[in-house]
Order: sequence, then structure tokens, then C-alpha cells
Amino acid sequence: MVQAPSHPGAHEGYMPGFGNDFETEALPGALPQGMNSPQKVNYGLYGEQLSGTAFTDIRPERTWCYRIRPSVKHSKRYEKIDLPLWRSAPNVDPDVVSLGQYRWNPVPHSDTPLTWLTGMRTMTTAGDVNTQVGMASHVYLVTSSMVDEYFYSADSELLVVPQEGRLRFCTELGIIDIEPQNIAILPRGLVYRVELLDGPARGFICENYGAKFNLPGRGPIGANCMANPRDFKAPVAAFEDREVPSTVTIKWCGQFHRTEIGHSPLDVVAWHGNYAPYKYDLKTYCPVGAILFDHPDPSIFTVLTAPSGQPGVANIDFVLFRERWMVAEDTFRPPWYHKNIMSEMMGNIYGQYDAKPQGFVPGGVSLHNMMLPHGPDRDAFEGASNADLKAVKLDNTMSFMFETRFPQHLTPFAANEAPLQDDYIDCWDSLEKKFDGTPGKK
Ligand SMILES: [Fe+2]
Repeated sequence: MVQAPSHPGAHEGYMPGFGNDFETEALPGALPQGMNSPQKVNYGLYGEQLSGTAFTDIRPERTWCYRIRPSVKHSKRYEKIDLPLWRSAPNVDPDVVSLGQYRWNPVPHSDTPLTWLTGMRTMTTAGDVNTQVGMASHVYLVTSSMVDEYFYSADSELLVVPQEGRLRFCTELGIIDIEPQNIAILPRGLVYRVELLDGPARGFICENYGAKFNLPGRGPIGANCMANPRDFKAPVAAFEDREVPSTVTIKWCGQFHRTEIGHSPLDVVAWHGNYAPYKYDLKTYCPVGAILFDHPDPSIFTVLTAPSGQPGVANIDFVLFRERWMVAEDTFRPPWYHKNIMSEMMGNIYGQYDAKPQGFVPGGVSLHNMMLPHGPDRDAFEGASNADLKAVKLDNTMSFMFETRFPQHLTPFAANEAPLQDDYIDCWDSLEKKFDGTPGKK
């Protein structure tokens, strides 16, 4: 296992707030004040803008970087490389049946050392990367740090949900460390290197081809609860001035390209702007829910939402099912049976999920695709139908959902290589017909 290299010059620290216009400098006076593009930048730095939206967007997102070399010096001629297990939409395989309720055990680690790039395993794709709609879901298996190797995705923003092991993202705009029950967001176009802090590391990725993740509108809930803006953390500036042979790999329109350079591209000494990576501690998510009877739609648990072009219909919702109190009276408390236009990729971070007491284990994944019925298994149904409805703490549980308006297509890896539970659909077999026409029967 390759250990993370040390970072003698690294700054550590984070700045709180969601989508703030941050400013940060790793050397005093490196950040120009009162203007973006002075004739000469302090320390001989180059000024450069990284734009995450069109210039004319209603709310433009961009960051001004002051760096040792401009990004054109981190880019030479490209050669295509193959990362066959990292797939992009459209990826519809005629031999794969995506229509069905599916569940997988955790994808196991192998003896082969795997980095962030070689360890990515695409489970599903949706939409079209070329038109910037939809998403892909992946499981990552990392046992090796990237060394003098850098990456960016021109296709997508990456939402990272660790389930096992700690990771360090050394990015152009600073350093982010995450562990299970944290998430990280890596914006489109941001260059970074991924190191293993302790491993092996496994987790889930939502690769968002569309508009960026944002906080959902809280509506009548008001200004507090759910995910609060101050709990999102962007890194302070940190830079490397290291001249060693290095590679930069770029994901662009679903294909991978590599270029060779002679130095670290993580050379931004100071930056300001609102287009930055960030992390969030899922334990700070403040759930709101039923306090008398019934329960609201699961959208009440949305952490982040990435809009589609249709108001109120998400390209992706990232939804969290965490510890909470269950207090509703005369109510079937687990998620109800349903069939939904949205397609739901779920992952278990730890513990036990209330609709599926068995089988959906930490590291495991399930898929309930567009307009396919699903709901509690028999044990969950019988247990919840006969439970003494006192206040109960739903403890030892954290699962999430990547929900998209688009159908999700299985990759050949998900269908043929990942540890699919062939008997998952049987979990509903033993649900009984209870109806016999007798009034008042329950
Ligand atoms: Fe569902």
C-alpha cells in the first residue's frame, strides 16, 4: 500500500459557508485587493479565472486563481488512455437488463493496487454526458495514493460519499480530508490528486453531468434545519512548488486523456471566488420529519439538489437517511410502498436501514429504477405493522440515495462482476394476501 506523501508546505484549514465568495492566500499579500487582474501580480504569480458557469449565468460561479504557472503550462499534447470500468452515459448495453429491482453486496477489494482512477467502478449511468444532463453512480476502491499524478473531470462535478477509509484531496484550491459520514464535492474542471490517509478506502460517487449541486429550498420549514450553510467547508489556499515528472489525466466527453508535464499543477498560491471544492459532515444534517402521524415524502431528507431544466424536478437529489426519532401515532412508520418516476440508487454507509432489516449492508448498493415498484420487505412490514408505537430512536443507521429524474442503466460491471444478490427480488415473496372480504380486519 502506498502511503500519502508528506506536505511540508501545506496549509490546513477550512472556511465555512455554502457558495460564499471566499478569499484565501497561502502567502501574505499574494491576493490582489480591489481588482482581479493587476498589471503585475505579487510574487510574480499569474492571474487566471476558473469559470464553472457561463459568464452570463443568473448567478455566475467563478474563482480567480493566482498561481505559479498558468494552466496552459499544465497541459501538453494528449493521448487517449483506457479506463474501461469508468463509464459514461449513454452506456446502454443490449445484453444487460436494467429493468428490475437490484441489490449488491459491497464490492470487495482486490490484491491489485488501485488508485482513484483505476479503482473507479461504474454501477449505473443516466442521461448523456455530451449534453450535460444526467449522472453516473460509481463505487470506488482505493488502496494506493496517486503520486505525481493528477486528474480533473471536464464532464462532471463529483459527489464523494466514503463508506470505509479516509481520503485526502489535494486540489488546486486547497486540501480536503474526508472520512466516512463526510462528503466532498469536487467541481467540474478542478485539478486534484487523491491520497489514502488510511485504507483501504471504499465509497460511493455521484458524477453529476448537469448543473451544480445546490441547497434545496426549505419552503415553509424556513431558514434553519436540514443542511445548514455554515456546515459546508471550503479549503484554505495551499500550493506545491514541485518540479518532478507528472501526469495529468482528463475525463472529457466520457473519454480519458493523459498529458505529461514537469511539475505539480497544484500551484495556486491565492484565490478568491465562489467556485470551489467543499466538504460537509453528514452528522450535522438536522432532519425534519413527522411529529404526529404519517410521514412526508423522502424529499424532506434532501441534503443537496442538482436542478434539471424543469423547476422542482431534480437532475439529482442527494438524500440522507440518518438517525432520528420515530414518534408518529397510528402510522406505518417505514417508507411506504411506491412506484416513482425518479430512479433511486441507494447506498448504506453504516448500520441497518429500516425498510430492509437484512441484506442491505454497509457498503452495499440497491437500485430501484424508474416506475418500478418497491418498498419494505416482509420482516419490515410485519414488524412495523405490529410495533408498539412508542417514541423510538432509529439508531445505528446512515444510508443515502442518489435520485435522478432519468432511468439508470446498469453497466456490464454491475450486471456481471459486482456481487449482485440474485435473490433480492424474493424479499417481497412472502408478503401475504391478508384481504378476505371481512370488514374491520386488520
Ligand atoms: Fe423508493
